[in-house]
Amino acid sequence: MIDYVRRCSLCRSPVLGEIADLTGNMNAVETVKLTKEFDDLVAVDSIDLEINKGELFSFLGPNGAGKTTTIRMLCCLLKPTSGTASVMGYDVLKEPFRVKELIGMSPQETVLSERLNCWENLSLIGKMYGLGSKELKKKSEELLETMGLIERAKDQVRKLSGGMKRRLSIAMALVHNPEILFLDEPTLGLDPQARRAVWEYIAQLKVRKTILLTTHYMEEADFLSDRIGIIDEGKIVALGTPVELKSNLLKTPSMFISARNLTTEVVEELRSRYSKVEEVSGGLEISHEHLDLKEIVDFLHSREVTIYSAALEQPTLENVFIQITGKRLRD
Ligand SMILES: Nc1ncnc2c1ncn2[C@@H]1O[C@H](COP(=O)(O)OP(=O)(O)OP(=O)(O)O)[C@@H](O)[C@H]1O
Ligand SMILES: [Mg+2]
Repeated sequence: MIDYVRRCSLCRSPVLGEIADLTGNMNAVETVKLTKEFDDLVAVDSIDLEINKGELFSFLGPNGAGKTTTIRMLCCLLKPTSGTASVMGYDVLKEPFRVKELIGMSPQETVLSERLNCWENLSLIGKMYGLGSKELKKKSEELLETMGLIERAKDQVRKLSGGMKRRLSIAMALVHNPEILFLDEPTLGLDPQARRAVWEYIAQLKVRKTILLTTHYMEEADFLSDRIGIIDEGKIVALGTPVELKSNLLKTPSMFISARNLTTEVVEELRSRYSKVEEVSGGLEISHEHLDLKEIVDFLHSREVTIYSAALEQPTLENVFIQITGKRLRD
């Protein structure tokens, strides 16, 4: 049963507000061989993706990987060259107004009206989506408070810092209470404190909203995501939970030993005992199926090597990324 019928504020046709829930277990986002070409460049290359409702999914990838292009197609701002994409069951090409009604987007390049203040920017979006003035005021106040902008609410946007504009942009994506939130680099340019505050807010939204975000920050993807898609040259090259991605890597334990007096003979001797021994700045990196710290330390002491520290390497998303793509994120 459909309880009520809303009117789409963009196309004025009836919107079955509860339809997504009534249709059962559909994915929030589904793409099949989604592709975007710009002349000879394949920016997004046949991406198959399923994002569950209530999931926080992150695209992690270097500059030019195709993150923004994918988001722009899902938000109906860019036509795919081929393939299909749907958001809450609505096809982005066939039913773009339905899609737009359900989504909120904070673009990579902040788009704000510089001569309007924070309230006015939020009102602009809220009214576009048909919010009543009471509801709009309540929601705007809540968002400005959360984003740490309430004290600057009456300032024209042109007077805000870059980080403050970023936070206002996220608030604007949320003002109409969308089902799905697309956040393209939500914390780019924020100071660590502001970044943490935004993370905490995004974390609070989890489950209630489906969120697709893009980021360059490994820590951000690790902290927030239910699943991560590592994207490189338009392709998803790895997909999984942060724990899955990390545990698929470094199956062989690895240890870093900071030491002095390491001679070539000692290193060669270690190489005969362990599968991988590399000399790195300030010490050694040793990998082997079974690593026994005491055994290594005893051996080095017996060869009169001075050890400053020894620690098992923890797998990080940075390692995963480098292993899969062969490059660092900002390359
Ligand atoms: N409108 C366009 N016309 C031509 N090429 C484009 C256009 N938009 C994007 N591209 C190209 O498509 C590729 C993917 O760009 P995209 O913006 O999706 O990357 P991204 O992963 O978001 O990168 P970044 O981390 O730098 O934001 C890049 O090579 C880019 O130059
Ligand atoms: Mg981008």
